[in-house]
Amino acid sequence: MQLGVCYYPEHWPEHKWEIDARRMAEMGIARVRIAEFAWSRIEPEPGRYEWAWLDNAIATLARHGLTLVIGTPTAAPPKWLVDLHPEILPVASDGTTMQFGSRRHYDISSPIYRDHCARIVGEMVRRYGAHPAVVAWQTDNEIGCHDTLPSYTRAALLGFRRWLAARYENIGALNVAWGNVFWSMEYRSFEEIELPVRTPTDANPAHVLDFRRFQSDEVASFHALQARLIRAHSPGRDVLHNFMGFYAAFDHYVFARHGLDVAAWDSYPVPRTEVLPLPEADKHRWARTGHPDVSAFSHDLYRGVGNGRMWVMEQQAGPVNWAPWNPVPEPGIVRLWTWEAFAHGAELVSYFRWRQCPYAQEQMHSGLHTPDDALSAGGGEVEQVGAELRQLAASLGQSSAKAHVALLFDYEADWVIATQRHGVDIDYQHLVFEWYCALRECGLDVDIVSASTDVSGYALVVAPTLPILPGHVVEQIRKGSNHWLFGPRTGAKSETFSIVPQLPPGKLQEVLPMRIVASESLRPSVRPTLRFDGVTGSALRWRDHAEPGEQTETIARFDDGLPAILRHGRVTFATAGFDRALLGALMMHCARGAGLDAAALPEGLRLRRRGPLRFAINYGAEPHPVPAPPGAKFVLGGPIVGPVDVAAWLEE
Ligand code: GAL
Repeated sequence: MQLGVCYYPEHWPEHKWEIDARRMAEMGIARVRIAEFAWSRIEPEPGRYEWAWLDNAIATLARHGLTLVIGTPTAAPPKWLVDLHPEILPVASDGTTMQFGSRRHYDISSPIYRDHCARIVGEMVRRYGAHPAVVAWQTDNEIGCHDTLPSYTRAALLGFRRWLAARYENIGALNVAWGNVFWSMEYRSFEEIELPVRTPTDANPAHVLDFRRFQSDEVASFHALQARLIRAHSPGRDVLHNFMGFYAAFDHYVFARHGLDVAAWDSYPVPRTEVLPLPEADKHRWARTGHPDVSAFSHDLYRGVGNGRMWVMEQQAGPVNWAPWNPVPEPGIVRLWTWEAFAHGAELVSYFRWRQCPYAQEQMHSGLHTPDDALSAGGGEVEQVGAELRQLAASLGQSSAKAHVALLFDYEADWVIATQRHGVDIDYQHLVFEWYCALRECGLDVDIVSASTDVSGYALVVAPTLPILPGHVVEQIRKGSNHWLFGPRTGAKSETFSIVPQLPPGKLQEVLPMRIVASESLRPSVRPTLRFDGVTGSALRWRDHAEPGEQTETIARFDDGLPAILRHGRVTFATAGFDRALLGALMMHCARGAGLDAAALPEGLRLRRRGPLRFAINYGAEPHPVPAPPGAKFVLGGPIVGPVDVAAWLEE
């Protein structure tokens, strides 16, 4: 477990670098990320490279024992490149070409831009690839940030046509697959196909879904181009990308198969809580700490994306600038976020940024230091974690223990739901997050994994929804002995976005005989009620009307008589979105049914195991006793965990 920091030497006079590097080492920081927005300083004019400053920055940091993550600078192409090739600019869904003057002003599909990326990355990896202090490379920066995906350019259109031709081979097959006879949408050739945008009403959902798949593949190949160059010239170094929280515009599992050693992500719990579609009361309650499950959710997701290896590349360390409101975080919370990340398996927690920059777009974004070099409040907490880490090094477990619960997260599910929501407030990631919170509130550790993962070792597998049900899920259910819980809309659609012929839940019927004969979305004031395991609750947003097969039990019914929860053997199906109380009861029911030890936690308290260590993380305002066995050896805190504090003890 290491601490890191994001540093921009190009923003500060050279005489400060030495002092900064020394201070970093003193604070317990081991790793520094640099250079990811420095293209205009590396190549100020076409083909003229200026390396002296970066050589010096790298040498200075290395002299103090710091290891380096070098970011490729492709998220911010310089003005001369944009002027030379304006066609590399991205195009928004309304047809507007985005302009130079901030960052991410490039089209991921542009072959010209890709050539320039290969050139600049090639120059950098040849120069620094073998440097002993360089331990990792980050490609680009937060691909897709600022709504730059999808991009609707001519290059994207041409690429999409080629992608479709390869997938369907002949246009007749595409017309059938998409159902283009509807509204006379038939094409005579792939060259007639346009991008699914600016149509008077909805574009064909099959067209939209394929475009999203294409865009996702474009992102993966954009990363792969850089990853190949890094591998060739910087052997043995980790290749990573800094993903975002709650972002699903491309399939991160596919991305990870294109040359990724670690899934790194950027953790901003306070603004993330502000921008998620959470109830106003939750946003208010957690305004200065972030919601207790918001970071944990992404830690667990990215640990899965990275095949067990996860870093926090950017950790919020004070107030930021990009949410509608940006409060100063609660004292103690930066330390809590750090330990929480480690508890969830992070190998590195790297703070954004070393020093607040007094100019340009992010001047209202704090860092570990104020612009005049004083340690900020967050910086002080980092110092504390640095000291704690040094003391604990020996007792810290290296790897994250496998959880008993697997939650299936599927990027295509997000695209399918977003393409045909049916109800304005239906959102895939929000649904998954609600299920995740309910599991965590029962004290359970959760691994978030892709729907193609072998889940045989898990006691309970939950899928909040999987509209396109992969065939092997049914096989895994048949062969395995674990318990499964599915949510509404599961198995409802074919690969090409049509209703499945046997009606939903499609292939799942083989292990759970039932049919969905109607589906409805519900306005917030329409809330069918039911009682389950002593809890009264209601449906939210969506309800499937189910007809159970003969051997399928209806274990809960809505007050209007419709089935709410169905079960056949080890497979359970919830027909609706549920409110928080009901979801809690459902998760408790399924966890106990799967033989797990689940118990409701007090508000704001969460538990998580890493190797031999168990952590209690208290986001709440009250102290709580932790569930440590008598005589447990504490390595952090003690048997009562205070508000905004952490305790950890050795188990086993
Ligand atoms: C991230 C980005 C950083 C910085 C930060 C501010 O999205 O990668 O460069 O802008 O947000 O919170």
